[in-house]
Amino acid sequence: MAAAVRAAARGRRLGALCRGLSASLPAASYAELRARAARDPAAFWGQQARAALRWDTPYSAARRPAPGPGATRWFLGGRLNVAVNCLDQHVQQSPDRVALIWEKDEPGTEVKITYRELLDMTCRLANTLKKYGIQKGDRVAVYMPVSPLAVAAMLACARIGAVHTVVFAGFSAEALAGRINDSECKAVITYNQGIRGGRIIELKKTVDEAVKNCPSVKHVFVAQRTDNTVHMGDLDIPLNEEMAREAPVCIPESMESEDMLFMLYTSGSTGKPKGIVHTQAGYLLYAALTHKYVFDYQQGDIFGCVADIGWITGHSYVVYGPLCNGATSVLFESTPTYPDPGRYWETVQRLKINQFYGAPTAIRLLLKYGDQWVKKYDRSSLKTLGSVGEPINHEAWQWFHKVVGDSKCTLVDTWWQTETGGICIAPRPSEEGAEIIPAMAMRPFFGIVPVLMDENGKVIEGNDVSGALCIAEPWPGMARTIYRDNQRFVDAYFKTYPGYYFTGDSAYRTKEGYYQITGRMDDVINVSGHRLGTAEIEDAMDEHPAVPETAVIGYPHEIKGEGAFAFVVLKDDTVQTEHVKQELKAIVASKIAKYAVPDHVLVVKRLPKTRSGKIMRRLLKKIIADEGSNLGDITTLEDPSVITEILDAYEKYKSEQRTS
Ligand code: WTA
Repeated sequence: MAAAVRAAARGRRLGALCRGLSASLPAASYAELRARAARDPAAFWGQQARAALRWDTPYSAARRPAPGPGATRWFLGGRLNVAVNCLDQHVQQSPDRVALIWEKDEPGTEVKITYRELLDMTCRLANTLKKYGIQKGDRVAVYMPVSPLAVAAMLACARIGAVHTVVFAGFSAEALAGRINDSECKAVITYNQGIRGGRIIELKKTVDEAVKNCPSVKHVFVAQRTDNTVHMGDLDIPLNEEMAREAPVCIPESMESEDMLFMLYTSGSTGKPKGIVHTQAGYLLYAALTHKYVFDYQQGDIFGCVADIGWITGHSYVVYGPLCNGATSVLFESTPTYPDPGRYWETVQRLKINQFYGAPTAIRLLLKYGDQWVKKYDRSSLKTLGSVGEPINHEAWQWFHKVVGDSKCTLVDTWWQTETGGICIAPRPSEEGAEIIPAMAMRPFFGIVPVLMDENGKVIEGNDVSGALCIAEPWPGMARTIYRDNQRFVDAYFKTYPGYYFTGDSAYRTKEGYYQITGRMDDVINVSGHRLGTAEIEDAMDEHPAVPETAVIGYPHEIKGEGAFAFVVLKDDTVQTEHVKQELKAIVASKIAKYAVPDHVLVVKRLPKTRSGKIMRRLLKKIIADEGSNLGDITTLEDPSVITEILDAYEKYKSEQRTS
């Protein structure tokens, strides 16, 4: 494209972007916005917050550092309501615009919900919560798959100032109970049953089992997803009936910018999952701006993020970002292969989706089924494709770009975390025509300042270098604390490199200065894009009476990205090892979730330990990577002969696997 034509196209695109979204946003180029954010971050974010959000009371200070190490506070003195920003402001302008398209599990049965209807539903639900004594600051667990009512549940909490904690509906009763107890939820909102991939999921039964051990729970609100009746006990309230009796109007609570909006549990390298806390204004602003700019969202677009609301991606890019921008957001309830591997693309055709945002694990799976499942369907509505949650390999990137996007769509690999609230590194926004390198997150978002650190905690300058990925400047979307454990928050993110936010990931800065994420530096693994601490799996398996010790590590898995490999030591050689292995897998499913179950369980006599008793997981990783002959320095091992033992056991295991 000639430079003049390119500039004109850029002008048109940016003009449309600014007209379509927030009329008051200045028509600045991406380069100008980036420069402003770098020059004076507080002024930049302040201006964005004024333009993009609807305030009850304007803020007085754009940002203020935490008193000690920790997260900066944003937009202090300001008051607003997140549900008003996501609903009322759009209802006033265009009540009949579609807010949500619920792509139900049953293909071809989508349901459209307008902004007016979603506001109605949210207010009725909010009034029901209030009727049962839920007040500002109370915590409410949402154990529901993605659906309009689940979105309304989140927004109803936001409307009355309650704090939601959405728990992925694939988590077990014990995992759910752990989260409810940690956050002392007063209520749980769930469905009688769920449906996924044509199969019924007994959600209410799981909640029943969980709340037996949750003294803080006073009410369980049960909505109907299927026609089947489930047992209703003393705590249970039929939600649809209650909502029908309530008024469709509910005065919103005016919240301070830094009040809690929600918490979401995520895995760390040690101990139990942590309740990451996000607050009102900063989170909403960051979700909305990244949604708009990274995906080049234009008014009228149908935005399809296929993540579940149980994860941060669902919070930021199914619910808060798109709804704050007045978008039409798709709620995908099904699986990529139900009823066949064409499901995503049939949905794209039927709903005319413009932006499609998903996980590499699904792409890797679908490419194995072949191009015909994609090509069968019209995908000409697609403009932007996005990938999130784990590194995307070259083969998957190319297939996504060439086959799904017909080489015509922008494909953005987006890097971020539950803790960052929204996308921090992604190829867009950038000036029109700027290159996108496959399988790389590349460029920081406005105001994000990535740095790489060496082992001594020094900033690594220059390009073509690798190090620990930190972020130097605060940004509004960043988590503020871990619920009831600020020390853990400070220790995990601000202590290793004082003055910087430490992500836990390592990265490579290319010769051109772009960022490529190279993986986690801690004992967190990423199974099908879901974060999991190996320590969580070990803790679950250690409860087996025949198993005194375990070590779990991640290993590369063709579809899932990473899988869990467990080494276990048995108390007694004579026990039925096959039986114990099955029991161990069942324990993990019941204590955490099915996706956490290790693919491999290998019984060994001992684990490799240092003289001080620390398990050397690094060596186990090398052994299963078939690098057992090149283990490096093993002099710190208490007894180096353990290596031969484990190598033998592993070789035997492999040959058994081959023959089975
Ligand atoms: C990993 C998901 C490589 C990373 C939004 C991070 C990625 C963790 C990418 C956060 C990417 C996420 N490329 N790795 N594009 N996106 N990750 O909290 O290790 O579920 O630290 O948030 O996923 O996972 P979380």
